[in-house]
Amino acid sequence: MDIVLATTNKKKAAEMNRIFAGNAIRFLTLDAFPGYPDVEEDGKTFRSNALKKARAVACFTVHPALADDSGLEVPSLHNAPGVYSARYAGEGATDEKNLKKLLRDMRGFKAGDRAARFVCCMAFVLPDGHHKTFSGYVTGRIGTKKRGDNGFGYDPVFYPEGRNRTFAEMDASEKDSLSHRGRALKKLSQYLFP
Ligand code: IMP
Repeated sequence: MDIVLATTNKKKAAEMNRIFAGNAIRFLTLDAFPGYPDVEEDGKTFRSNALKKARAVACFTVHPALADDSGLEVPSLHNAPGVYSARYAGEGATDEKNLKKLLRDMRGFKAGDRAARFVCCMAFVLPDGHHKTFSGYVTGRIGTKKRGDNGFGYDPVFYPEGRNRTFAEMDASEKDSLSHRGRALKKLSQYLFP
């Protein structure tokens, strides 16, 4: 079975093909389907954004499609940055700017108010419209300054629960074993290969 990922990022497809190696599945990117229109991520939830993207891809390509949406939620900021994680400091903002804004917004917050979680929702949609979504979470806390150089986004300030290192201080395999994305992917894999 071919599954089209809602991305043109070939590294993402290579990673998925590695994870699912040995199963009768091949992940393709949108590069194989020229003319695919841009889909605006204007949903209020990770699930609605993931479903919107996967539906659009399944409809355009007439293949099963997989899309994800993820971000960071901080309860003491009313769950911001949430679905706006990639543009918290404004449209087109860099990871660095978003992270700085988060630290600024949380300046003076006591330890008890620094809880946070990463959320990832994956949507799997068939061309006939049938769909299934899988959510993964990792809880932790936001530090007061950046630590570590690995990863991306808010990794340098996120300490997963029970660890005193940030995601940016971990190698990819350690992060994957704890992360929201890793956990959503595990649920997807159990669904596709019960
Ligand atoms: P996307 O939906 O995977 O593109 O993620 C949206 C935004 O959420 C990213 O630009 C990051 O700011 C943030 N984010 C999502 N996952 C992670 C993660 O694993 N580490 C750090 N930041 C993340």
